Amino acid sequence: MPSELSPIDKAKYVAARRAIDYVEDGMRVGLGTGSTAVWMVRCLAEMVREEGMMITTVATSSATAELARSLGLDMRDLDEVRWLDLTIDGADEFDPGLNLVKGGGGALLREKIVATASDQMVVIADRSKYVDRLGAYPLPVEVVPFGWQTTKALIEEMLTNVEVMGRSVDLRRDGPEPFVTDEGNYILDLRLRRISNPAQLSLILNQIPGVVENGLFLDICDVAIIGNSDGTVELRDIHDGTIEHERVDLIDGDNLFVDVVD
Ligand code: 5RP
Repeated sequence: MPSELSPIDKAKYVAARRAIDYVEDGMRVGLGTGSTAVWMVRCLAEMVREEGMMITTVATSSATAELARSLGLDMRDLDEVRWLDLTIDGADEFDPGLNLVKGGGGALLREKIVATASDQMVVIADRSKYVDRLGAYPLPVEVVPFGWQTTKALIEEMLTNVEVMGRSVDLRRDGPEPFVTDEGNYILDLRLRRISNPAQLSLILNQIPGVVENGLFLDICDVAIIGNSDGTVELRDIHDGTIEHERVDLIDGDNLFVDVVD
């Protein structure tokens, strides 16, 4: 393990390192977005290079696509590949049922499309992302720019009728300007503090005209790998109902910084 990493990066790294064990030769793999996913893309590229594997990848954001290409991974459009064997992605929050909040990096729409098109989704995260109940992390909702203030008002009105603890809605900004997603949309961050019924909320949100998609990923994730800074991981498999603990075997000289274009 690169020794100069901070505890949080070590945790992300071991989760990412363990996740690539799910990748088999010939697979079509969805690549997530965010700092944990960056570790995974680096680990995957190194494994593909060292073991001469044939892997086709689809990225969930332009940032991930750029990184994956710079590392020599075979990157395709989803329309070319159509269906994926596996997607590995990070999350902003996940609960014991492996329901997720995603979109902190603004890529929730492509992330949800790619994860839904995959036979299996593996989430990788440090322990801080694991929560008893979703909602502490603001829920990102992607909306079309046209009439976004009306859409925001409709969401605020809808929130008065659902069981949440907070109800403020903020337009995500990139400096003084609205943050713009890869699909040219805006993001509204919903500060709900506690989401009592994620399925109901997701359904109602997606019925509002102007809402493109929300960051709740329900019944999509199969396995969560929680990384710890001591080099161990916890694997939670929602189908087997198992929780396993392992130490990640790292080969001395894991060389993840080679060929990385920052
Ligand atoms: C991006 C996401 C990311 O997966 C999520 O924000 C986690 O990112 P990180 O690994 O940097 O904590 O959903 O839209």
